[in-house]
Amino acid sequence: MKKVLITGALGQIGSELVSRLRKDLGIDNVIATDIRKLDDNFICDEGIFEKLDVTDYNSFLKLAKDNKVDTIVHLAALLSATAEKNPKFAWDLNMTGLMNALEIAKELKTKFFAPSSIAAYGPDAQPDNTPQDTVMNPTTMYGVTKVAGELLENYYNRKYNVDSRSVRFPGLISYKVEPGGGTTDYAVDIYYQALLTGKYECYIDKGTKMDMMYMDDAIDAIVKLMNADEKRLVHRNSFNITAMSFAPEEIFESIKKYIPNFKMEYKVDPVRQKIAESWPNSIDDSCARKEWDFNPKFDLDSMTKEMLEKLEQKLKAEGKI
Ligand code: SER
Repeated sequence: MKKVLITGALGQIGSELVSRLRKDLGIDNVIATDIRKLDDNFICDEGIFEKLDVTDYNSFLKLAKDNKVDTIVHLAALLSATAEKNPKFAWDLNMTGLMNALEIAKELKTKFFAPSSIAAYGPDAQPDNTPQDTVMNPTTMYGVTKVAGELLENYYNRKYNVDSRSVRFPGLISYKVEPGGGTTDYAVDIYYQALLTGKYECYIDKGTKMDMMYMDDAIDAIVKLMNADEKRLVHRNSFNITAMSFAPEEIFESIKKYIPNFKMEYKVDPVRQKIAESWPNSIDDSCARKEWDFNPKFDLDSMTKEMLEKLEQKLKAEGKI
């Protein structure tokens, strides 16, 4: 990777990946794009930013061509809960965006990354230690677009030799930019509420385990996979990766070690609960560890410590606490 175009750059992953790659590759070598306008909160406003609707093929191609990029990182997509509210729109955005991005990668011979998700699995998959290669059968529209996306990325690799790579991300936890419209978002909200109000109303029920990861490990994973030796990759689209698996009561206990008076109640949202129950409890990421040395650093307690410290600094700077 020498010059990278990132779509969805103002999102939870994008905003942190842009900063990291600008450090690694140089400010002018990362073209950040998003359908939203750049605002004052965007942390890397000193580099190139372009407004881009990924369903507009010609504008997308022109931007990639004019900037002579050698890598496309396609992050623009709707997440699970939002997609369930408007499945047709989710299909149109997630699939047209991905197809355009792959066509451009083929045309300009760039490397390619687009994330998949634990949502690619459905209730037919073995729920614990879910294997890398197994029955998927997702029951959400988001999951359907992720499985279709994985297949499409493999197709472009086999048929057109596009160097496409991907990971199935678990829930991602971070303090810089909040996630929007996901089922795993509770595991971010809970830290905000612990600091802002000392209590949390959890929309996911107790006992519901899902895979999770701290953002630093997620960003490292993207960079590591993109730099991995192609000859070692047996899989491509898409690798299971995880750093921890927990249920709401476990993250609550982890926060209580630092905020002993923290309180939590359950007010289950049936839509997101159903989505969560259709996903694995914990996935097997041994292929990623073997084929490109995936090795996350943060577990639940070290993540909680870091999240509370960093988020407290941020909320204080914003005058919220
Ligand atoms: N975090 C995502 C979601 O909840 C999973 O990919 O939708």
